[in-house]
Amino acid sequence: MAILEILTYPNKFLRQPTKKVQNIDGDIQKIIDNMAETMFAVPGLGLAAIQVGIDKNIIVYSDSQDDDKKVYNVIINPQIISSYGEIIHENEGCLSVPDLRADVKRAKQVFVEGFDRDGKPINIEAEGLLSFIFQHEMDHLNGILFIDKISPLKRELYKRRIKKLLKNEK
Ligand code: NI
Repeated sequence: MAILEILTYPNKFLRQPTKKVQNIDGDIQKIIDNMAETMFAVPGLGLAAIQVGIDKNIIVYSDSQDDDKKVYNVIINPQIISSYGEIIHENEGCLSVPDLRADVKRAKQVFVEGFDRDGKPINIEAEGLLSFIFQHEMDHLNGILFIDKISPLKRELYKRRIKKLLKNEK
């Protein structure tokens, strides 16, 4: 297994829509293992393949409360089949958008379908944190970052902050 590099804003690759996985084989399973290891190393609650430079519809996540257990889940080709309600997810963050936390409007409940590591169909009804993780990671698959959904002022300040940072690095 390997820890992969996480791409960060404003890397353009993050804006690319990802492709469906056609064949769940050993190569895909290796990607999944590396994604999980990367997520735990950071640590984060969820990771989409595009964040580590792979334009495929894969997300890994961990909703385990026990940090030592390092139990992860994967959904291949995930799709939100339906969603209900509206709620503000406070202090959302993203591994690809460092040093920013902001409130994001999210659905209260989502129903997600996809495939597991072995290609078996799965469906999950999620509420609360898990539902936010799903919506956030599935946005990544469409090239959407959570800063696209925060207040314009906060977004502008963040963009400026990053621009300045990158300029100073040169
Ligand atoms: Ni993210």
